[in-house]
Amino acid sequence: MARNLHFLFLILLNTSLFITIHSHDNNSALTACLHSSGVKNFTVSSTLAYSRLLNFSIRNLRFAGAGVPKPTALILPCSVEDLRNSILCLRAASLAIRVRSGGHSYEGLSYTANNGVPFAIVDLMTLNRVRVDSGSLFAWAESGASLGEIYYAVAASNRTLAFPAGSCATVGSGGHIAGGGFGLLSRKYGVAADNVVDAILVDSAGRVLNRDSMGEDVFWAIRGGGGGSWGVVYSWQLRLVPVPERVTVCTRTRSGSTRSVAELVHRWQYVAPNLPEEFYLSVSVAGSGDGNVSASFTGFFLASRKAAVSSLSRRFPELVLAESSCREVSWIESVVQFAGLDSVSELTSHESSSPEFFKAKSDYVRIPIDMAGMITTLDYLSRKQEAYLILDPYGGAMARVKSDQIPFPHRAGNLYGIQYIVYWTVEEDTARDKHVAWLREFYEYMSRHVTKNPRAAFVNYLDLDLGTVEWGRGGEGPTDAVSKARVYGERYFLGNYGRLVKAKNAIDKENVFNNPQSIPPLNK
Ligand SMILES: Cc1cc2nc3c(=O)[nH]c(=O)nc-3n(C[C@H](O)[C@H](O)[C@H](O)COP(=O)(O)OP(=O)(O)OC[C@H]3O[C@@H](n4cnc5c(N)ncnc54)[C@H](O)[C@@H]3O)c2cc1C
Ligand SMILES: *[C@@H]1O[C@H](CO)[C@@H](O)[C@H](O)[C@H]1NC(C)=O
Ligand SMILES: *[C@@H]1O[C@H](CO)[C@@H](O)[C@H](O)[C@H]1NC(C)=O
Ligand SMILES: *[C@@H]1O[C@H](CO)[C@@H](O)[C@H](O)[C@H]1NC(C)=O
Ligand SMILES: *[C@@H]1O[C@H](CO)[C@@H](O)[C@H](O)[C@H]1NC(C)=O
Ligand SMILES: *[C@@H]1O[C@H](CO)[C@@H](O)[C@H](O)[C@H]1NC(C)=O
Repeated sequence: MARNLHFLFLILLNTSLFITIHSHDNNSALTACLHSSGVKNFTVSSTLAYSRLLNFSIRNLRFAGAGVPKPTALILPCSVEDLRNSILCLRAASLAIRVRSGGHSYEGLSYTANNGVPFAIVDLMTLNRVRVDSGSLFAWAESGASLGEIYYAVAASNRTLAFPAGSCATVGSGGHIAGGGFGLLSRKYGVAADNVVDAILVDSAGRVLNRDSMGEDVFWAIRGGGGGSWGVVYSWQLRLVPVPERVTVCTRTRSGSTRSVAELVHRWQYVAPNLPEEFYLSVSVAGSGDGNVSASFTGFFLASRKAAVSSLSRRFPELVLAESSCREVSWIESVVQFAGLDSVSELTSHESSSPEFFKAKSDYVRIPIDMAGMITTLDYLSRKQEAYLILDPYGGAMARVKSDQIPFPHRAGNLYGIQYIVYWTVEEDTARDKHVAWLREFYEYMSRHVTKNPRAAFVNYLDLDLGTVEWGRGGEGPTDAVSKARVYGERYFLGNYGRLVKAKNAIDKENVFNNPQSIPPLNK
């Protein structure tokens, strides 16, 4: 009996794949399909709630304006069944699918589509439960959960457990972990994706797969191979990591002439990547527009304040770090500080402060930039007011993990990553063009100081300048898509690109899940 039911279920599953909606009005056909499969929470473009919901998770205003293509519908699945039914209905309606978790994609890929392809957004914001099994060192997080919600739940279960991932609380775990996920604990415990032990993936056929049933190539690909290529990750099983009761956080800002700041940053390159892995010291450098620069050092140490300050003073006396620049706090209090929030309870809010217009690029450095090069670099920056660099130290656990362990490949030999950001607050075409042109020129200058052949980049700092592939509405692309995509694929994933194509072929041969920088299947 049970076996027959199972058989019947399989037939239903299969036939549902071949439902096509025959209607000139695909909106109402989509609505009918969603209703009949029990999906209740969605809104179509004619409704009032639509614009508010669409805007809610747009973190880069470059992709909010009237000139940006808008989705036909926004669907908010409330369960994994809703999620698979949403995908099946969108396929039946011949709509391209965009999956949005936190909406922090630097290029807006979770809520836009190119070439006039009609599309809908599956927004995971209400799939945000995090379950930490007490007494176990693991958690299950639905992929619409923000990093702040994960941190909140983990700390609530045990003050000496943590999860290593990025510092902005509203970043979604769906896109973040899919791209690796670097943060303050990464020198100790690797990127977020290094700490994923299982996942539930809904594929383009609506199958609900776990690690065993998706297979090791696909499970490998979803941990760092970038979001939007494989299917929809419904949830992640995370390995939690131990932290001491008290950690130390320090901030120290040094402003002045480019030469004086360049000396400090030049020295930082030799210190930060070689600190004990319990020590994280990053630096962010901002231009002033008037020829000076300002460097903000952020320290996060799995050690007491006394031990941290005395060790840092010995290894980096030039920084002149006083105990008064540091505080001893619990791990979750450090998270609140680095997220720029005031209290632990704010960690669970998806509301972002003030989104702005921005464009970013990234690089990796393997050989320290010499003093003359550092001065020229900061001179460049000093002439621009609306720009900054973030230098993230690698080394420690980042260097211990092999480059092909997961798709995120930037491991041993990388001293630090660079992120370049320009931002503006009022949209004018001339302003945008001016800022973006400045960034591209600066990036061009930096080529002499960073990795080459290929010039590596971090997929979480997505940059469409690295190349794109245009897909049609059925996911069809140029015959040389695999070699076109290699241009950005090898910059983000180095030698792992080929295995990603193989994994794509195994899970989404029809290329249902695509975007201008997705991984193509073979012969697509
Ligand atoms: C303010 C800010 C701070 C940041 N800080 C860090 C940091 O400290 N460290 C770091 O590594 N990165 C950082 N990032 C980059 C961030 O990790 C990436 O932009 C990430 O892709 C955002 O994930 P999201 O879910 O919020 O974005 P979304 O825009 O929702 O998604 C990004 C991509 O993933 C896909 N996707 C989303 N959810 C799923 C899912 N469940 N299954 C499959 N695909 C999915 C989307 O379709 C899209 O292609 C930061 C970004 C911002 C804007
Ligand atoms: C959404 O954002 C756009 C662009 O910034 C704006 O024009 C529109 O009014 C916003 N919609 C709502 C409901 O706030
Ligand atoms: C339905 O969507 C709204 C946002 O429009 C959200 O606040 C609500 O929690 C969702 N309901 C469920 C059951 O997920
Ligand atoms: C509606 O969907 C059908 C297939 O289901 C497709 O052929 C048609 O082009 C779509 N119409 C519009 C206006 O998008
Ligand atoms: C809390 O986490 C620590 C690891 O930091 C672990 O040793 C301890 O057993 C956990 N306590 C409980 C009650 O689970
Ligand atoms: C630039 O820095 C120098 C050295 O700290 C300082 O004397 C000068 O006033 C600064 N110039 C500006 C415009 O802030």
